[in-house]
Amino acid sequence: MADNLKPKSIFSSKTAGLLDRRKRATAGGGPEKEQQQRAQGKLLARERLELLLDDDSFEEIDLLVEKRSKEFGLGEKHLPADGVVAGFGRVNGRGVCVFSQDFTVMGGSLGLAHAQKICKVMDLAMAAGVPMIGLCDSGGARIQEGVESLGGYAEIFYRNVQASGSIPQISAILGPCAGGAVYSPALTDFVFMIEGTSHMFITGPDVIKSATGESCDFESLGGAQTHSAKSGVCHFIAGSEQDCFRQIRELIDYLPQNCREKPAAVMPSDDPNRKSEVLDQIVEMEAKKSYKIHDVIWEIADGHQFFEVHRHFARNIVVGFIRLNGETVGLVANNPSVLSGALDIGASEKGGRFVRFCDAFKIPLLTLVDVPGYWPGLEQEWGGIIRKGAKLLYAYCEATVPKVTVVLRKAYGGAYDVMSSKHIRGDINYAWPCAEIAVMGPQGAVDILFRSEIKKSSEPATLREKLIEDYRLKFASPYQAAERGYIDEVIMASETRQKLIRAFQFLKNKRTDPIPKKHGNIPL
Ligand code: HXC
Repeated sequence: MADNLKPKSIFSSKTAGLLDRRKRATAGGGPEKEQQQRAQGKLLARERLELLLDDDSFEEIDLLVEKRSKEFGLGEKHLPADGVVAGFGRVNGRGVCVFSQDFTVMGGSLGLAHAQKICKVMDLAMAAGVPMIGLCDSGGARIQEGVESLGGYAEIFYRNVQASGSIPQISAILGPCAGGAVYSPALTDFVFMIEGTSHMFITGPDVIKSATGESCDFESLGGAQTHSAKSGVCHFIAGSEQDCFRQIRELIDYLPQNCREKPAAVMPSDDPNRKSEVLDQIVEMEAKKSYKIHDVIWEIADGHQFFEVHRHFARNIVVGFIRLNGETVGLVANNPSVLSGALDIGASEKGGRFVRFCDAFKIPLLTLVDVPGYWPGLEQEWGGIIRKGAKLLYAYCEATVPKVTVVLRKAYGGAYDVMSSKHIRGDINYAWPCAEIAVMGPQGAVDILFRSEIKKSSEPATLREKLIEDYRLKFASPYQAAERGYIDEVIMASETRQKLIRAFQFLKNKRTDPIPKKHGNIPL
């Protein structure tokens, strides 16, 4: 072998040069900043990726990217990796693109190079058709880089929208997320927050105090509890970062890689013909007695597993993923334990967004109906229940994925129509024998229809009771709807799982021809 081709020590000057550059670029903000990060209970950017991704699967890109701005002393500063680690890797064997902001480097603030790195992995995620996961821990737009930071954010927002409905997008907020920076997570499909360490807000407590006089701290303003229960910005709360990454991995397992693929099915782990005595008992319960919708969901789902989304927000509706005979199904269910399961603004927005996610990603929809109508009140009317309540209706009408509906108990009024009824193209619509499908409940109907008769009667209470009973026998059942074909079959509750598996199997290759148009105009 010629001397010049003989392998040299890895410490040859060129290789050593690369290793040296890599060392500098992976150094983060140094020991003091690392310690501060840990003192806040936060992990480092690269540790996070190790926990999120499959072992030894991370491939980093743009490690050597450097900022170009020199303003406000930036020229003298070295910002390792420009404060963000980006690349691709695997989650349970499936490809994903990721970025992880490094708070130890200038507070993870976003300058132009930092933004360009994020944009590059977003472009790669779209080209490769894989989910995009962003781990956010940042003081927002890098003040020293001025409009270039703002432009950088806008480039990210633009890509968030282009990717929406094309690849799943997931954001984990692992520290501060302030100002306009919150809009990238808000444009993604699922937002995770950590209790105690994540904060999202447009303006901080001091600005709010001076502008409106209201007092708050970071936690009450924009902590995980606030955004999961009050604003609905956050879909999942985690007790720790480790818990957050475990949940993200679980979520990814239910999803397809992109809008052209079907969600990955798993080997069926449960008997498709498993019957449930518990469900028959619910049918026999008095109509006024409450049951737990989660019990119904667990009885139906493979392995009694339900991956709930948006658990703490608008709890009168429940959404999430289950598997039926190994296949992912998106589930929407009214929750009679909260506001009697009535639809309100929050429930309509929560349900509508979930239905649209499932429809975009070819995830079939199961709807479990027990709804007394829309929640009444001035707050709702003035808050825009007409416009905002229409979102769920719009989403169901628009969805072309297989849609199977089961009316468990009440399906009253407009809410009957909305909850994936036959009329808005539910494909297969079942009802339990205890279902009540009517314009309204017996009491309300009798009070409207027989107001003067009851008033004139010598025994108004007895007459009212009798009329309510008559109404109940005539209308508060599934049979009027079944006689007209609006319900395909009244089923034994215990057989619900088997019926659903067969229906979804039958609908697997459902075809729909989209109407040619640019896009609809959902009442936002
Ligand atoms: C430049 C920043 C920065 C920023 C933090 N740093 N935010 N540098 N631009 N936006 C730097 C700090 O100077 C500090 O540098 C280091 O990061 C750590 O910050 P600390 O303040 O020491 O950390 P902490 O006490 O934990 O407070 C974190 C914080 C706070 C709450 C995020 O830094 C903060 O309020 N930052 C500003 C937040 C903000 O208003 N951002 C702009 C939002 S507007 P040294 O050198 O001391 O280590 C926005 C517009 C988006 O983002 C536009 C989209 C349309």
